[in-house]
Amino acid sequence: MIHRVEEDTKPVVAILTMHDSERQFRGNRQNFHEIIKTGKDKGYLVYVVTVRDLKLKADTIRGFISNGDPHTWEQRMFPLPQVIYNRIPYREDEIKPRVRRKIKQCILHPHIEIYNPFFFNKRKLITWLCKSQLTRKWAPITKKLKGLPSLYDMIRRCSYLYLKPEEGKAGQGIMRLKYQKSKPMPYRLQIQNNKNSITYKSASLERVWGRICKETKGAPYIIQQGIELTAVHGRAFDLRLLVQKSDLGVWGVTGIGARMAGTRSITTHVPRGGTIEDPEKLLPSLFGSEETEVILNKVRNAAVHIAKQIEWGCRYKLGEMSMDLGLDTSGGLWFFEANSRPMKFDEPSIRKRSLERIFDYCDYLIEKQVN
Ligand SMILES: Nc1ncnc2c1ncn2[C@@H]1O[C@H](COP(=O)(O)OP(=O)(O)O)[C@@H](O)[C@H]1O
Ligand SMILES: [Mg+2]
Repeated sequence: MIHRVEEDTKPVVAILTMHDSERQFRGNRQNFHEIIKTGKDKGYLVYVVTVRDLKLKADTIRGFISNGDPHTWEQRMFPLPQVIYNRIPYREDEIKPRVRRKIKQCILHPHIEIYNPFFFNKRKLITWLCKSQLTRKWAPITKKLKGLPSLYDMIRRCSYLYLKPEEGKAGQGIMRLKYQKSKPMPYRLQIQNNKNSITYKSASLERVWGRICKETKGAPYIIQQGIELTAVHGRAFDLRLLVQKSDLGVWGVTGIGARMAGTRSITTHVPRGGTIEDPEKLLPSLFGSEETEVILNKVRNAAVHIAKQIEWGCRYKLGEMSMDLGLDTSGGLWFFEANSRPMKFDEPSIRKRSLERIFDYCDYLIEKQVN
């Protein structure tokens, strides 16, 4: 049953997701619940809306609100939102024409602000960074995987490569290729497989190519210069940052976490055996405390420049993104990717700040609309 319209003069934010025939709507309910709760504490009316229910010409629309816990949801009619926080969880959903159309309508709507309209593509991210003198230096050499000649070209330039799906996530489909001249089987291809990685050794790149094709299944891939990441006890780690806009609409770093690869993994993802580390503890053991401060300042500064450049490149308004950055063995900084729909950070302090900052940026967007 649909209850009465929520009569409220509070600013209204809708979390956008997809309809689901079994669960009513898709996405991480715990996350949505925490966003709603934080918004409420900040004086907002926040609800979840599906693309299907988001009728931009209606006076009121159907939405969902959590009722004290993330498992109990109530549907009600709500006023149209001033801000839409896009949390459509899957690319497959977002590329559907009707979904894209609805998002475009939101972008063009005179009284609605939508931030983070689309997912990023790894190849485009690197292209955008390479368009600025300032950010180019953090981008590993990256090419589109276009047949064996493209792979041959890249392995001649860099004897260590990462192959990644342009639109992958959570380590899916990632491979690593090394050429070690002195070895009898000089090509080593490692394929990420759940928590482990399988290694194929080969004397010829043609053979390796056959195996790569089996893995890519025709999906668009990039070939990227492999970075020798700093490691602790043989486990590489990288930095995961959350970058969000403030109530002044200015980019800032909300928090920096570190993720250390599992012993048999070629990525640092926690579901693949990676662990969560505190960079403030991890880095001093490697670089000393003074150098750590220098590095972390460099990281924060780079992240803000990178966020600005990505926003410029994608031509849409963004409010937040997470970023994977690597430190090489000499402390040099590298950009791997950014996500426009950041996952929840497990570090409680980052998590708390991240929720609050979602609404700081909403404050900014709404203020801008009013004035
Ligand atoms: N060029 C690279 N050199 C070294 N390590 C890399 C490179 N690219 C990715 N990685 C490692 O693999 C992880 C996953 O890569 P990423 O581009 O973030 O893809 P995903 O979308 O699957 O998370 C990174 O966090 C990093 O640890
Ligand atoms: Mg990643």
